[in-house]
Amino acid sequence: MDWLNKLALPQSFEHIELLGYMLLIMIFLFVLFSSFALWGTVLSFYLKKNVSKSLDANYRRLSKEIMDIVLFNKTTGIAFCVIPIITMIIIFSQLFQSQNTSVQEYLVYSLIFSLIGLLLVYSYKNSLDDFKQSEIYSGLIGSISLFFSLWLFIAALTNSVFIESTQTTTAIGYLFTSVVLIRFVLLLLISLVITGAYLTFGIFNIKNTQKEDDEEYTEIAKKFILNIAFTSAGLIPLFIIMDMMMMPDIYLTAGYFLYLTLGLIFLFIGYHLFYLLYKKINKTIAAYLIAALILFLLTYGLNNQMIIYGANQSNFVKLNTEYDTYLAALKGDDKSTVINAEEIYAVRCAPCHLFDRKLVGPPHDEVIPKYFNKENQLISFIRNPVRVNEEYPPMPNPGLKPDEAKAVAEYLLTKVQEDINNKK
Ligand code: HEC
Repeated sequence: MDWLNKLALPQSFEHIELLGYMLLIMIFLFVLFSSFALWGTVLSFYLKKNVSKSLDANYRRLSKEIMDIVLFNKTTGIAFCVIPIITMIIIFSQLFQSQNTSVQEYLVYSLIFSLIGLLLVYSYKNSLDDFKQSEIYSGLIGSISLFFSLWLFIAALTNSVFIESTQTTTAIGYLFTSVVLIRFVLLLLISLVITGAYLTFGIFNIKNTQKEDDEEYTEIAKKFILNIAFTSAGLIPLFIIMDMMMMPDIYLTAGYFLYLTLGLIFLFIGYHLFYLLYKKINKTIAAYLIAALILFLLTYGLNNQMIIYGANQSNFVKLNTEYDTYLAALKGDDKSTVINAEEIYAVRCAPCHLFDRKLVGPPHDEVIPKYFNKENQLISFIRNPVRVNEEYPPMPNPGLKPDEAKAVAEYLLTKVQEDINNKK
């Protein structure tokens, strides 16, 4: 994806840090809203296909309500799934400019799957209103697309930590490496728990309006959603530990463990709230549960962002150095600009010197030959003139920088050498 490198701008440490915060927010938003769309559809579709055969109206109602809750508005999917991926592509193009990684490629494919998935999932949702059978399966294909979108997303994040690892396998093969798979399962579990909590809250909110057979409906919804969410919540710590064991020791910093511990605390608070919800569905408790899980998701995003940044520190130092030279060039004081000896000579020396005739100072053709093969001596004279010939007044210090003096000395030596050669 060479065109992505064209987006790359010079980056200072400050920019890189700022990009880090943006990355964190984008990971957070993408995971949150992709989760809703993916798991909402999967659960709704599951109810529709299997349980509704029992002709229980409650299941059909739940199947539809789930979709109304997770896709509450037409633009959210686009805004919170698609824009974060595009932003992440841009951020990684800035962070990994001209580096050979597949991170952006994975994200571009993730974006494509996300778009397809969202379109299908929305059309599935609309099909629930008027029972258009033909569109039911868009729910299935849509959720499969979203599933791949998340998979590619986690492959991109993982690859940004283990930059070299894709070079040893194929791009597809990399998706099946144990690091990527473990982190993918972890991501799926986290997203399922969050969706579950959100649905519990949402269903209880909507429920208030419809009075009849509420008891039974709540019971069904509660069992179905809470069971799934609680089970996956229970599995999360296991996968967090596996994920941790896959990480090279150098990334396991104090900060990593701090966020990990915080994350686990929020998760355990979440367990407790789940338990309370089992006993009695309660809107406030559901809201607290969402809050706890959102904080947990934030620590997950923070840890990912931190590992990515830890893994790429040397790359960032390089970027910052490049930025410094770039800035110096803009200000015009970069050392890399070519020193023009002829120009310096014309301004600083020519007023007193000619090559073949005496002016204020002696003709170069006369005095320079003694410096042949003694460039250093000439340089030190130019930088610090000393009295040589009593017939001349002393030469004032022309005040050249070392590399300027060197350039002028070389210029004089070659020029005089040429003059001598020409005379022969
Ligand atoms: C203000 C007039 C003036 C300027 C400007 C000037 N020179 Fe000179 N230069 C002299 C004079 C006078 C002498 C003779 C000094 C002596 O012999 O003690 C001299 C001598 C020299 C010599 C001969 C030294 C030797 O060992 O005999 C060199 C080489 C030289 N200048 C190079 C330069 C270069 C290169 C510059 C420009 C960066 C420069 N000069 C600028 C007046 C000047």
